[in-house]
Amino acid sequence: MRKMRRKGLASMAVQTVESSTSNPTVDLGPAAALSCRECGHRVPLGPVFACEECFGPLEIAYDFSAYDAEELRKRIEAGPSNIWRYAPLLPVPADVADKPNLNPGWTKLVKADHLARELGVEPGKLFVKDDSGNPTHSFKDRVVAQALEAARAFGFTTLSCSSTGNLAGAVGAAAARAGLRSCVFIPHDLEQGKVVMAAVYGGELVGIEGNYDDVNRFCSELIGDPAGEGWGFVNVNLRPYYAEGSKTLAYEICEQLGWRLPDQIVVPIASGSQLTKIDKGLQELIKLGLVEDKPYKIFGAQAEGCSPVSTAFKAGHDVVRPQKPNTIAKSLAIGNPADGPYVLDIARRTGGFVEDVTDEQVVDAIKVLARTEGIFAETAGGVTVGVTRKLIENGVLDPSLTTVVLNTGDGLKTLDAVAGTGLTATIRPSLESFRAAGLA
Ligand SMILES: Cc1ncc(COP(=O)(O)O)c(C=O)c1O
Ligand SMILES: [Zn+2]
Repeated sequence: MRKMRRKGLASMAVQTVESSTSNPTVDLGPAAALSCRECGHRVPLGPVFACEECFGPLEIAYDFSAYDAEELRKRIEAGPSNIWRYAPLLPVPADVADKPNLNPGWTKLVKADHLARELGVEPGKLFVKDDSGNPTHSFKDRVVAQALEAARAFGFTTLSCSSTGNLAGAVGAAAARAGLRSCVFIPHDLEQGKVVMAAVYGGELVGIEGNYDDVNRFCSELIGDPAGEGWGFVNVNLRPYYAEGSKTLAYEICEQLGWRLPDQIVVPIASGSQLTKIDKGLQELIKLGLVEDKPYKIFGAQAEGCSPVSTAFKAGHDVVRPQKPNTIAKSLAIGNPADGPYVLDIARRTGGFVEDVTDEQVVDAIKVLARTEGIFAETAGGVTVGVTRKLIENGVLDPSLTTVVLNTGDGLKTLDAVAGTGLTATIRPSLESFRAAGLA
């Protein structure tokens, strides 16, 4: 059954690990090896992503044995106001903060009392983790920052990715700052805001005639071809490193809550990587003794027009059936999510749920969040807020518990979603006209 669940990866190109074993100078801090999520097989750190034994996905295994909880907490608190305060828990060298990169993270955790009132949550219990405050206005800067260090360590000269939009911009900007070439791939019909944000940093931006799953398939082919030699695809051959960046969301949320686990977290799902690594981050904090061990629930959020994971969850399946996406939430439009089965495991293990909302509910939720908290979210944020509302209405999410809702991107990139929002009135520059418009 497990092997069946990984069928998607089995068909991808699997690179050899020779480059890492022949490169003893790789220094990625506490990262000790790559370990298969399915069978536990370990290989040295290298630009590989699938297990040579069972094709399961590889992830970073760490050696945290030297850490003392109190010392580590003090070291983190004395660190910079960005993700590098958590460098001791990430696959990056100790001097990472001194290298040219975008220094993302340490975004605001907003106590959202007005939104809480609107959704029927107890005051003081609802928070929005607002990751639109990152350098390229989405959480993707966190993951790209890790992949950039891996690319440097493995000697890649071109940074690349398959993207639903936000990742392309994050890669373009990170490569520009680091002085690397970038060439990124997106579906050809993305929102203008996403296209401009990806193109403006001066790298190459290629539109593929097809959806994200077609783009991703093409990139996997390119990796196995001489044309892709020397290329680090942040979310393909550097995926184990890239994915770790999402742990920093979990670390920040807990630290900003006063080194406390939230009771409930609502996370958007595209490939599912972010959700699985938020869980990994929370588990690490518990094991390291940085937070008290107590139950928490993770909820996944999708748009109805691309809901392969919520559909599988609600049907009680542990296999995710691919879908053809059709939603305004284009950043989440991955019909064949690589980490889908793991999301199902985590939602079930923690007692959470995976839910979806219609495009209309997404737009409404964007407006509610903007109106109540002054946060303008992209469609992915509309998905999480909309799903939070639905889960409360259905009695699935407990409104009396501490709940964190993620906003992972900026509404300025998806202006079309709220087209029609505009002027209240157009008047002549006179008090008479102002009064006549009923605005006095
Ligand atoms: C704004 C935004 N939020 C969330 C996600 C979901 O990321 P993941 O693929 O890790 O599930 C994406 C992915 O592109 C995104 O752009
Ligand atoms: Zn394996």
